[in-house]
Amino acid sequence: MKHVKYLMVLVVVGFALAACGDGDSSDTTTTAQATTTTQATTTTATMVEGDVVTGGLLYDKWWSVLELDAPADDNPLWASQTTNERSGADTWRCKECHGWDYKGSDGAYGSGSHATGFPGVFNAQSKSVDDLVAQLSGQTDPDHDFSVMGEGAMADLAAFIKEGLDDYTPMIDADKKAVGGDAEHGDELYDATCAACHGTDGTTLNFGSDEEPEYVGTIAIDNPWEFFHKVRAGQPGTQMPSAIASGWSLDDVLDVLTHAQTLPTEADSAAHLEEVVLGGLLYDKWWTVLELDAPADDNPLWASQTTNERSGADTWRCKECHGWDYKGSEGAYGSGSHFTGFPGIFDAQSKSVEDLVAQIEGEVDPDHDFSAFLGHDETHALAVFITEGLDDYTPLIDADKKAVGGDSAAGETQYASTCAACHGADGKTLNFGDDTEPEFVGTIAVDNPWEFFHKIRAGQPGTQMPSAIANGWSLEDVLNLLSFAQTLPSG
Ligand code: HEC
Ligand code: HEC
Ligand code: HEC
Ligand code: HEC
Repeated sequence: MKHVKYLMVLVVVGFALAACGDGDSSDTTTTAQATTTTQATTTTATMVEGDVVTGGLLYDKWWSVLELDAPADDNPLWASQTTNERSGADTWRCKECHGWDYKGSDGAYGSGSHATGFPGVFNAQSKSVDDLVAQLSGQTDPDHDFSVMGEGAMADLAAFIKEGLDDYTPMIDADKKAVGGDAEHGDELYDATCAACHGTDGTTLNFGSDEEPEYVGTIAIDNPWEFFHKVRAGQPGTQMPSAIASGWSLDDVLDVLTHAQTLPTEADSAAHLEEVVLGGLLYDKWWTVLELDAPADDNPLWASQTTNERSGADTWRCKECHGWDYKGSEGAYGSGSHFTGFPGIFDAQSKSVEDLVAQIEGEVDPDHDFSAFLGHDETHALAVFITEGLDDYTPLIDADKKAVGGDSAAGETQYASTCAACHGADGKTLNFGDDTEPEFVGTIAVDNPWEFFHKIRAGQPGTQMPSAIANGWSLEDVLNLLSFAQTLPSG
């Protein structure tokens, strides 16, 4: 732990400073003592120790660290520039004016949409803590007044400026590429420290939007200075660890940056496919996937139909109302014992992930609410499955449910290498039915080719059965498997 403390002495002439007003900042202590100047004026000297890591977090977004409301108006200094068109809270972030590299207009924010022309704080490292606090509390320039954050926080910022700044320039080339780092060591550090939250490929958390995702790899490539700052100080308001607090060297951070610049920036990564697959499995039978108790009562929507006579848990499966072909009453469940009259979700592919999550969490129809069982990660995965995982099986299945246009020989080869280990060469090793009415791979393939498509693509909930989506098999590969599986014994 490298918690460098700074002793700050605030001399306030003429009135006694309210002592100990720094409750917001952890790791700081305040003592107050009265002294007398030679001019016989009563002064109060307050000694505050600043915390470098907290200071780094405050520099990023101080109100989030201090759990204060974000400022609503523009910072008074903002009016003196016109090039940066942001407004409101953003104009109060130290980094917005002084940069992730601490060099203001002499650094990365010297051009582009963040340019303000404001100076950096890099050269202020040599200033005294008193001078820095005077700058932060508006005593130097009344428009540069951040005293709302309290003394302790200002002391933390002063400590960060004096001790926490580093010069990233020599480590980043003109193309923003990391220079001189050890990618292999960075990979090890990343897997041990970052992967738990961000995933091994950095795509578990999306800092952007669904349309414009931002992952660890995106920040590393687009804004290596921000990467340095955030990895060193941590991310305000989260449990993300701080490299400074963990005692990492600047070289360690450079190594992680070097590795992170090789991570994907596109959504089409393994982690993303895993999310699509998770959504597909949840669509099939979410409580098995999540190892929850199966719901006991009927889904509230169930009472609005009378044709499907199932009850209890079955009435909570997405597939029971929306179909294996995703087409609800317009598809295979348009007649027969599964008929409900409920619509499909196939046309919902064009909706936004946000709108779909809202639908699944009951915000559109309070009776269509799965949020008591599914967390946001799960409803999000379902939404991603709907926007990206659905396929139209109709043209591949004829009126007699026979596969159309598949290559059975190719399917046989794939079956032998990927399915036979569990299901046997004839598909009869596992019986999904019971002794009187056995169901084998051949049975499902012949009776319910839509279910076959869905399960082969997403996998079987609660089992090790592989997923075609996760493995990158095309829809045609699955069609080939179906063509072959329809030749297997069904009884
Ligand atoms: C709206 C833009 C803006 C924001 C936000 C801002 N500053 Fe400043 N800062 C300035 C400007 C402009 C100066 C130059 C002196 C002045 O006008 O006060 C300055 C000067 C400084 C200096 C003195 C630099 C030197 O070399 O003497 C320090 C230290 C400083 N700011 C720290 C901070 C910290 C810490 C924060 C966040 C709490 C912050 N600033 C937020 C614009 C800003
Ligand atoms: C305990 C969980 C956790 C760990 C461990 C963790 N992070 Fe984070 N990280 C987060 C969270 C939460 C966010 C904020 C996500 C958001 O804003 O949506 C974040 C944000 C980020 C950001 C982007 C910040 C932004 O707003 O643009 C980067 C880059 C990052 N982390 C890199 C790393 C690296 C590198 C490591 C390992 C050294 C790491 N993180 C370790 C939880 C973690
Ligand atoms: C009991 C039947 C039932 C179950 C189970 C069910 N839904 Fe629905 N769903 C409906 C009905 C009925 C609608 C039509 C709108 C409404 O009433 O909310 C609908 C609408 C939708 C829509 C909006 C479709 C569109 O075109 O806008 C989506 C998306 C959706 N459901 C997804 C799911 C998912 C995912 C699950 C599983 C977690 C699920 N549904 C489970 C009955 C059901
Ligand atoms: C690692 C073992 C494993 C592999 C490999 C495997 N499966 Fe499965 N599969 C299972 C298990 C377990 C079940 C569920 C059995 C049950 O519900 O009794 C299952 C279920 C099924 C079902 C029926 C689902 C139902 O509930 O009606 C079909 C169809 C199926 N598998 C086809 C395949 C095909 C085709 C392949 C090759 C692409 C394959 N499986 C590969 C283990 C596997």
